[in-house]
Amino acid sequence: MIEERPLHVLGISGSLRVDSYNTALLRAAAELLPPGMTLEITDLAGIPLFNQDEENPFPEEVARLRARIAAADALLFATPEYNSSISGVLKNALDWASRAPDMPLAGKPAALMGASTGVFGTARAQLHLRQVLAHLGALVLTKPEVMVMRAADAFDEQGRLVNEVTRGFLGQLLVELAQWTRLVSAR
Ligand SMILES: Cc1cc2nc3c(=O)[nH]c(=O)nc-3n(C[C@H](O)[C@H](O)[C@H](O)COP(=O)(O)O)c2cc1C
Repeated sequence: MIEERPLHVLGISGSLRVDSYNTALLRAAAELLPPGMTLEITDLAGIPLFNQDEENPFPEEVARLRARIAAADALLFATPEYNSSISGVLKNALDWASRAPDMPLAGKPAALMGASTGVFGTARAQLHLRQVLAHLGALVLTKPEVMVMRAADAFDEQGRLVNEVTRGFLGQLLVELAQWTRLVSAR
């Protein structure tokens, strides 16, 4: 039997909030990883506002983020929904990550998920995120869709995802991401 190489996933939370449900969703993902997958979680604190005058060289935090994206086998985004779209924090980071010379998002396997306190569970934000990632050439998994609505009920006071149905979808998303990453990386 051929041993499959381990997959390293970078989890990116689009929220800077200390008690963020989206960062908590990434922590739940870390509990549900399939064998052979590791998850490093990052938030976007410290990434400056995009300024095209400051690309040469990139600010240190930006260069670090770009290098982490480049080094990852796949990305797992947890997006909040702000005013029916992604957070400015996440869009700002994607703008930095989109830039030449190496364009680390191009061809990168990725999956999305999100948690919101409303009833749409980040559906609208995830559509916008898909649009941006498609433009950047990231290879985004289509299903399952993990949209956590009424997040205050899905997580307990310690920020642990307690909704079993959502845990099931999340586990499935990770399995699919592993298969997807191996499939597209073999091309
Ligand atoms: C500026 C702002 C806009 C928001 N807009 C939406 C929205 O369009 N849809 C929604 O479901 N929740 C919206 N919310 C509520 C967020 O879902 C909620 O604050 C959530 O906890 C944010 O994610 P986080 O816990 O990871 O920080 C908004 C919150 C803020 C602060």
